[in-house]
Amino acid sequence: MTALEDPVAIGGVEIPNRLYRAPLLECAGTEPRTPERLVRELEPAAASGVGLVTQGATIVRPESGCPAPRMTRVHDPEFVSGLAPVPEAIGDHGGRVFCQLEHGGLRSLEIWHSAYRERHPDFRQLAVSRPPRALRALDRVGMFDIDAQVLSTAEVRELARDFGRSAGYLVDAGYDGIHIAGANMGIVQQFLSPYYNRRSDEFGDGVRFLECVHDAIREFAGEVPLITKVPVETEFPRPLDRRITFDDGVRIARRLERIGYDGVVPVTGSPFWDTNLVRGTYPERAWETSDLQPGYEEAFGGRWRARAVAAAHRLHSRWVEEKPAWNREFCRRVREAVSIPVCCEGGIRTREGIDRLLDPSAEHGSSEAAPEPAADLVGLGRPFYAEPRLGARLLDGEENRSVDGTEAKSGPSPVRDRDAGRALCRNCNNCTIPQVTGAKGTCRTPSIVRERAWLEKEGVYDD
Ligand SMILES: Cc1cc2nc3c(=O)[nH]c(=O)nc-3n(C[C@H](O)[C@H](O)[C@H](O)COP(=O)(O)O)c2cc1C
Repeated sequence: MTALEDPVAIGGVEIPNRLYRAPLLECAGTEPRTPERLVRELEPAAASGVGLVTQGATIVRPESGCPAPRMTRVHDPEFVSGLAPVPEAIGDHGGRVFCQLEHGGLRSLEIWHSAYRERHPDFRQLAVSRPPRALRALDRVGMFDIDAQVLSTAEVRELARDFGRSAGYLVDAGYDGIHIAGANMGIVQQFLSPYYNRRSDEFGDGVRFLECVHDAIREFAGEVPLITKVPVETEFPRPLDRRITFDDGVRIARRLERIGYDGVVPVTGSPFWDTNLVRGTYPERAWETSDLQPGYEEAFGGRWRARAVAAAHRLHSRWVEEKPAWNREFCRRVREAVSIPVCCEGGIRTREGIDRLLDPSAEHGSSEAAPEPAADLVGLGRPFYAEPRLGARLLDGEENRSVDGTEAKSGPSPVRDRDAGRALCRNCNNCTIPQVTGAKGTCRTPSIVRERAWLEKEGVYDD
């Protein structure tokens, strides 16, 4: 039986257990205080026993290419050497930290963030091919401002080398591994997706870009553990027939293993940057928070446009189905096809659910053939905004195994019993919207914040 507490190796590096913090925006910027902010953000997960902490996407170029405000850039060796306190802090707790590398391409701030665009009118967006019709339509109605620079073959190679250089700087700073932001409509997904990629050169095969990224990382950073998200674009209704299908996704993962990637994170989504990424409810409270309104208006170019985005968001969040562990089936299919570790994330909230992903045999009778496990490591994202030390409640101890409280330790707090083995996060997404203003990633739902305070008082997160 595989347990969450069992160690696992990625690219020859041992991770002390199979629980990871999925990459999230830290909004830590690129400033002298960035290392301190990142430590504050990431260390609590490691302190609570999480085996692998992933630092959210960082940008490999000095300008443009940032999908969201206040992301950290990692193109400068001197700046990156200053991030050493991050791996040190996590290593002190016995955990490992991977840093994610990204370029936004057509998802960059200079396309959608009105105030940023005004500050940088000359920035062009890197594009794999001519932008798709839907994006051009948004440009025509003024929601986007597209000035795309379609990359030449030589420029694609240079971009891949920038991923390699940044990886080298991060490894020199002490990071344990590199994670490629392969999904969420970043430039890697734009290479992989037939919706974006209509090139006729060697990079018409999008995996070729990931191959060049791999080669550059091996050149600059050596045999460091290297993993990537693998996207499929299954969550979008027809008539979009040019998309990454499940079969494509499995084939991509297989090829990545042959190229030399050490792990994959299969994720289902769409070709766009939409609520598929953060399935859950419409973030009512976040959109209404008056102190953040000026920031939304700045980002979306005025009050009415911000309202239009909110309305589209409301519609889309009703349409997108939120089911627990929504990437499970895709992960299972990929895991059957590869022998490198498969990391599963997306809507996982209970210890019971985690156990099922790692070893479904436990809940099957001996006469019944159990399905194959879906994952070798299991990750949670938003729940760490709500409970930075969540690991303490999911790892170890029988008291964490129950989700209904029947086997849970009895204690003076009803909260404690009810939530044993279950993350407090309810996918209400109030954490996500403020990040378009560059605001810190944190839970903004009062009932959850109160519950966490209760648990803290109870000492549930203590060592
Ligand atoms: C605010 C926010 C920022 C995110 N940033 C990243 C990122 O930088 N890179 C990435 O690959 N995924 C990112 N994700 C996706 C998460 O890693 C994760 O896949 C997603 O939140 C689903 O997991 P969850 O339901 O446990 O939150 C982000 C998600 C959220 C909510």
